[in-house]
Amino acid sequence: MLGRPRHALDLGPAEGREAVFLARRGVATTGVDLSAAQVDRASRWWKDTPGLRFVHAEAVDYLTSSTAPFDAVYSVWGAVWFTDPELLFPLVARNLAPGGIFAFSQAEPSPGAYGPQPMHGKWLEGRESGLTVLRWQYTPQMWADLLKRHGFTDVDARILPAPGGEGLGTLLVRAHGPA
Ligand SMILES: C[S@@+](CC[C@H](N)C(=O)[O-])C[C@H]1O[C@@H](n2cnc3c(N)ncnc32)[C@H](O)[C@@H]1O
Repeated sequence: MLGRPRHALDLGPAEGREAVFLARRGVATTGVDLSAAQVDRASRWWKDTPGLRFVHAEAVDYLTSSTAPFDAVYSVWGAVWFTDPELLFPLVARNLAPGGIFAFSQAEPSPGAYGPQPMHGKWLEGRESGLTVLRWQYTPQMWADLLKRHGFTDVDARILPAPGGEGLGTLLVRAHGPA
């Protein structure tokens, strides 16, 4: 999915399992997560892994001020799901090295529920009233069109069926940054 990156950026790593996987294979990996608790835990769990660091920041804020180009930017059911692509995609493009890869996954969209969708998760119960978390959902073709409009090339967007064929599958998207 990511080719052979030297520097990778994980948007929304939470516990950092994918980031540590890459770092153990010699990829200098930065994980950016807006949850201080997740960043604190991942930093403690993987503190002895060379080439791995976790940063407490919101993805758009981080990419706005970052100057180090990455060979791969990826997000596993992470920040890409929760961020307006019209804001995020130009920043990802700007932070990719030439030939760099942008890849992300998230749940398959429910039919007809496209664009920003309010999240109704059990984990939101008991939080302060009025808190709304949005998730951006589109069909593979809509994601491909969005990416192409922002200059990405070689876009491959597809749905991987759920194991056993029941329930929602996984949306998987991969593209090259603008030339
Ligand atoms: C469902 S978890 C996925 C975690 C991990 N990638 C995995 O596969 O287990 C989503 C993570 O994205 C983070 N996140 C959501 N929106 C974000 C944003 N705008 N900027 C940075 N992190 C964000 C959340 O804090 C959370 O840790």
